[in-house]
Amino acid sequence: MEIVITETPEIAAILAADIFEHALAAVEAPVLGLATGSTPLATYRELIRRHVECGLSFVNARAFLLDEYVGLPRDHPEAYRRFIAREFTDHIDLPATGLHSPDGAADAITRAANDYEREIVDAGGVDVQILGIGSDGHIGFNEPSSSLGSRTRLTTLTSRTRIDNARFFDDDLDQVPRHSLTQGIGTILEARHIVLLAFGESKARPLAHAVEGPITAMVPASALQLHPHVTVLVDEAAATKLSNADYYRETFEHKPHWQTF
Ligand code: F6R
Repeated sequence: MEIVITETPEIAAILAADIFEHALAAVEAPVLGLATGSTPLATYRELIRRHVECGLSFVNARAFLLDEYVGLPRDHPEAYRRFIAREFTDHIDLPATGLHSPDGAADAITRAANDYEREIVDAGGVDVQILGIGSDGHIGFNEPSSSLGSRTRLTTLTSRTRIDNARFFDDDLDQVPRHSLTQGIGTILEARHIVLLAFGESKARPLAHAVEGPITAMVPASALQLHPHVTVLVDEAAATKLSNADYYRETFEHKPHWQTF
């Protein structure tokens, strides 16, 4: 696990965009794993800028969303498929058929979950997966006590997560769905490279538990310790509870020039 502490979220976003750009250049038909929420937005903005100003192309790529709310109509502005289109994919040249997301509005949710697992496998698996972390340590919508081997399935959001996400629903908790269809932790761990982003003071505690604490279902992000290729990009505020922060800074400062992410 490589942990990089940057002065600002914008610097972390540039590094995350570099990782995506590298995958787009290195892989013939790259498969990108996308998260929603606030954390990856600066990375998406940077990728859009590179597309518009530098010609970075996504034309050969496919993208898979981590999760989707269950209980919202497909055309709800906060449905994650609408969110990612508005914030990212409508502004790049990703083919319309290249965007995949779990169908949270399906009548047969279990079948939709299994279909999504199959779609990811059929695409050859995810090359680079971007992740945020919930204030309760979740990744995707795998809440504390999720099985570390879980697959795409229906999950119930904790009240912490619903309160955190109420800001997207006019601060009205009653509008925040109670369920999601999310890639499981086992599904996420199959991505070849995982980039975890964490910004701000509210992420300091879950981040420290995730990267320095024991591996436990009570902190779903701690499962990332089992993955062979994880890059953690955090700002100073999110790094305040890392006991090994000096070592991470020293490691990055002395990173050999030939070593990529
Ligand atoms: C979003 C997702 C969630 C968020 C997490 C952090 O697709 O899967 O795990 O990454 O809730 O959300 P923000 O970035 O809004 O703090």
